[in-house]
Amino acid sequence: MIRLQDIHKTYVADDVENHVLRGVSFDVAEGEFVALMGASGSGKSTLLNIIGALDQGYSGRATIAGQEVKGLSDRALSRFRNKTVAYIFQQFHLLPHLSVLENVVMPSWFGRPASDRELARSATAVLEKVGLGHKVKARPGHLSGGEKQRVAIARALFNQPKLLLCDEPTGALDSDTTLKVFELIERLNADEGLTVLVVTHERDIAERCKRIVRIVDGAVVPDPAGGAA
Ligand SMILES: Nc1ncnc2c1ncn2[C@@H]1O[C@H](COP(=O)(O)OP(=O)(O)OP(=O)(O)O)[C@@H](O)[C@H]1O
Ligand SMILES: [Mg+2]
Repeated sequence: MIRLQDIHKTYVADDVENHVLRGVSFDVAEGEFVALMGASGSGKSTLLNIIGALDQGYSGRATIAGQEVKGLSDRALSRFRNKTVAYIFQQFHLLPHLSVLENVVMPSWFGRPASDRELARSATAVLEKVGLGHKVKARPGHLSGGEKQRVAIARALFNQPKLLLCDEPTGALDSDTTLKVFELIERLNADEGLTVLVVTHERDIAERCKRIVRIVDGAVVPDPAGGAA
């Protein structure tokens, strides 16, 4: 699902070069559940942006779901961002003036020729799947942190992506809520075969993943225990 080969990324800010990724290579198979760990500033979000085709300014090869993202036309790129990958972030990124249902449907207002009624029906089904069928009309401001993240997960799932990229999805949640949100992501992986790559600083979360990829000094280091460590 993901094949990264010798990825290099340098940011230039105020004439200062920051060579953040220095030859990152690893693979994630279809249906895998992988944690990405590394110190703050080690380039985890940078790498997720490359995998999600949000950043094309790198060298090396990134092949995602069989496509080398760098060569994609604009049209193929929007399709890729719409259909193949989905993102969830620490800070939910919900639109406060829209209802829960509208937040889930909103990204599809642009891409999908379906009647509002159809969109609402499928969004309700996804919200039921994440346990929020009773909150479709609520505004994000009236939800708990865990509920907000479940709305963000429903929004991510709405277009049935193949790959879910999570950037510290539980970083803003308390430990009970963290566990519940994480169990939901685990269930989506187990039941629906969604491939998941999750950036986390939380060791106990990473240990639940089937594999941990660690970035140190801009490159992937072997996992000492060969698995959860
Ligand atoms: N748009 C940008 N322009 C310039 N430098 C950037 C930019 N984005 C990130 N950086 C730098 O690149 C490095 C890696 O940043 P990145 O956000 O990928 O780290 P991270 O591993 O996700 O860290 P954290 O765990 O704190 O989220 C940092 O030194 C950061 O300052
Ligand atoms: Mg980050």
